[in-house]
Amino acid sequence: MADDIAAGRLRPGDPLPPQRELADTLRVSLGTVTRAYAEARRRGLVIGQRRRGTIVAPERGADSPLASIVSEPSGAIDLAANWPIYAADPDPTAALREIASRPDVRSLLRYPPPEGGARHRAAGAAWLRSQGVKIDPEALLVSGGAQHGIFLSLAASTIPGDTLLVESLTYPGVLAAARTLGLKVRGVAIDEQGLVPEALEAAFAGSDAKVLYCVPTVHNPTTAILSEARKRQIADIVEQHRGWIIEDEIHRSLVEAPTPTLYELAPERTMLVTAASKALAGSLRVGFVTAPSALGQALLSAVQSSVFAVCPLGAELFATWLENGTVTKTVIKKRRSAERRQRLAFDALAEVDGVRLRGDPAAYFVWLTLPTGRSATRLAADARDRGVRVLPRSAFSAEPDGPDDGVRLCIGSPEDEKALTKGLNTVVDLLRRPQTELAIF
Ligand SMILES: Cc1ncc(COP(=O)(O)O)c(C=O)c1O
Repeated sequence: MADDIAAGRLRPGDPLPPQRELADTLRVSLGTVTRAYAEARRRGLVIGQRRRGTIVAPERGADSPLASIVSEPSGAIDLAANWPIYAADPDPTAALREIASRPDVRSLLRYPPPEGGARHRAAGAAWLRSQGVKIDPEALLVSGGAQHGIFLSLAASTIPGDTLLVESLTYPGVLAAARTLGLKVRGVAIDEQGLVPEALEAAFAGSDAKVLYCVPTVHNPTTAILSEARKRQIADIVEQHRGWIIEDEIHRSLVEAPTPTLYELAPERTMLVTAASKALAGSLRVGFVTAPSALGQALLSAVQSSVFAVCPLGAELFATWLENGTVTKTVIKKRRSAERRQRLAFDALAEVDGVRLRGDPAAYFVWLTLPTGRSATRLAADARDRGVRVLPRSAFSAEPDGPDDGVRLCIGSPEDEKALTKGLNTVVDLLRRPQTELAIF
C-alpha cells in the first residue's frame, strides 16, 4: 500500500476495498488485513471515512495550512491558505519613517514587559472598542498574532491529556496547537448557524472537557456567524460547567455589524483572541488576548515560556496605523475586495450541478459542499495536479472519520482577481468532469 501510494498508483481520495474483500483476494485472514489497515492509518497513509470506508490520505503537507509558508513558491494558484488579500495591504513606508524619526525610537529595542507595553495594550483595547467590545487595556495582553494567542490560551487553561472542545469543523491551527500541547480534541456539532448549543451542553456533560475553542464570527471554514441568542446560550452553558471559552474573533473587524462577543457575555470565563493579521497585514504578528483574572498569571507564564515578550515593532506599526486612520481605511479596502472576490466565486460556481456554496461578504474564503459521491480529498489532489491548491474537509475535521464532502476555497490568497478566476475555473472544470477513479488492487 505504502509503495503504491509513493508511486502514485494509489492517489489521495482513492477508496480502499472493504477489508473482507481484500482478505479474500489476497487469501489472508481478515485479522491480518485489519491490522494492516490500522498500521496504514497510524502511518498517516489512509484515513477512515464514516460512510465511504477507508480512503488514501491527502498528500503529506498538502493539507497543512502552513505548507505554503515553508515551501518555496511553486507558481501554483493558492486557494488553500487564508491570506488576507495582500494587494490591499497598506504601504508601510510613511509609518516606518515616522517611527524611525521619533526621538525615543531606541526604546523599541528594549525588552518589553511580558504582557506588552501599555501603549500597545491601549491600542488593542481601542481597536476592540471600535468593534463594539468594551475592554480595559489592563485586561489585555499582547500576543504574536492570533495563532500565538490561541496557543497561550490553551497552555493557560489545560494540561496535557485534557479534552478540548471545538466546532466539528474548525481552524486547522487550533488542531495543530492541541496536538503540540498533548490535548485530545472532541468535535461539537455545527449547523448552518454555527455551533449548536444543545450539542455543546451534551459534550460538557458527557466528558471531562473544560475548554471550548470556537470561531463565532465568520467561522473558519464554513463562514457561519453565531447569533446573539446562541451566544447567550453558549455563555450560560460554559458558566454552568465552570468551563473556559477561547473565542477567536480574528475576522470581527471585517464584519459590518457583528453580534456581541462571548467575552462580553462571560468576561471572567473567556479568552477573546484577535489579531491584526486579517485586517491589516499578515506579517505584523500582533494580536491581543483578554485575560480572565483567574488565568492572568498562567497566561503571562505562557508568554514568558514561549517568547518571553512579543517583539514590539509590529505592535508599534499597528498602534501608529490605528492612530492615523490606516487601520480603518485598510479594513474598508480589504472588505470591498473580499466582497468582489466572493462574487467572482459565486458567479463561477453557480452553474455547477449539485454543489452548495457558502460565503460571506467579509470572508476571505468560501465553503463548497460537493455533490454526493464526489471525494473532496480526490478533488484537492486533482486540483493540485493542475496547479491549484485547495484544502479538503479532512484538514478542518476535529475527528478523523467525518464525511469527505467539503472543500474550502480561499479567495483572498491569489495575488489578483485574474489568478483567482483562473483557479476557480480549474475547480469548476474538475467538478464538471466525472471524478477520475483509478483501478486498484
Ligand atoms: C480562525 C483563525 N484564527 C487564527 C488564525 C491565525 O491568525 P494569525 O495570522 O494572526 O496568527 C487564522 C489564520 O488563518 C484563522 O483563520
